[in-house]
Amino acid sequence: MSERMISPEEKSEERALDAALRPKRLDDLEGQDRLRDNLRILIEAARGRGEPLDHILLYGPPGLGKTTLAHIIANEMGTNIKVTAGPAIERAGDLAAILTNLRQGDILFIDEVHRLGRAVEEVLYPAMEDFALDIVIGKGPAARSIRLKLPRFTVIGATTRLALLTAPLRARFGAIYRFDFYDQSALESIVRRAARLLNVPITDDGAAEIARRARGTPRVALRLFRRVRDYAEVRADGRITAEVADQALRLLEVDELGLDYLDHKVLEALIYKFGGGPVGLETLAAAVSEESDTLMDVVEPYLLQLGFLDRTPRGRVATRRAYEHLGLPYPERPEQPSLLEPPEPEDTP
Ligand SMILES: Nc1ncnc2c1ncn2[C@@H]1O[C@H](COP(=O)(O)OP(=O)(O)OP(=O)(O)O)[C@@H](O)[C@H]1O
Ligand SMILES: [Mg+2]
Repeated sequence: MSERMISPEEKSEERALDAALRPKRLDDLEGQDRLRDNLRILIEAARGRGEPLDHILLYGPPGLGKTTLAHIIANEMGTNIKVTAGPAIERAGDLAAILTNLRQGDILFIDEVHRLGRAVEEVLYPAMEDFALDIVIGKGPAARSIRLKLPRFTVIGATTRLALLTAPLRARFGAIYRFDFYDQSALESIVRRAARLLNVPITDDGAAEIARRARGTPRVALRLFRRVRDYAEVRADGRITAEVADQALRLLEVDELGLDYLDHKVLEALIYKFGGGPVGLETLAAAVSEESDTLMDVVEPYLLQLGFLDRTPRGRVATRRAYEHLGLPYPERPEQPSLLEPPEPEDTP
């Protein structure tokens, strides 16, 4: 399958440019106002008391800035950050090695924290809670456990799947923040800021056109911006206007709402093959030859956000808006009472 322009996952090309564009301070971070305000208080309070930060869990769809924010927090606290990921820590001993190398106040960033193995998690619990590492020496009846003290450090965990995090691990985070999709004006600012840093001439409505098609996701906005820049240099005079952006994005098959061929394929399957639904996720995934995880992680969140899709107890349903966007007539059908919910009693007060 060809790569999606609007996939919220990171591509290798992006990592190089990323360093230049990644905001370094809380003030440079666009959008996420509520999260930013909360975090400011957390940081100032910890700094005021001269203590390390509480453990922080960041969750939300890919490409919204979890990794970026972890680095910003380290900058704001003036501490070191050590970066790792759930699948990278294979054995308990690997984690013990990481933990014993931390210094007072350091941040340990664990990406994909829902993918830690069970044995590894069990080492992490006392480390997060009591800043202690339990080590078993010897074998059999003579075995005994000794407790090593660790410096006070901060875990920042990131996950796209909060539901997959075990309850005991989740309970050890003192602050849990959700990332939301970005609004139009925040995405415009992100695109304009990138253009400024890379010296690319862009009009306000050029930035608006890119932002509108970025699916609420900074990573997608920046990727579309780069492709539009290429187009502007090759097919126009290098300046990004609304017209240039529109032409470039049409060529990339990104429609005016930011939907691409896969989104269209899913909506069309839902409408043509299943009469608009309801249809189960697995059935829908099979109909478009995709993994159900792909549908759930990278297709559905944005369709839900646009109000094109409903998740009902009986499966996925295409909404009137989805039909309208595809230029199809919406079949009027009688309201069906849900099979899973008992009818409302008639005489409730
Ligand atoms: N608020 C923001 N302002 C400006 N740029 C941002 C902002 N948030 C994210 N970015 C940019 O978007 C890109 C994606 O951000 P980041 O890698 O932090 O996302 P993520 O949530 O960690 O994604 P994943 O779940 O895939 O790891 C980066 O290039 C980053 O510089
Ligand atoms: Mg990340």
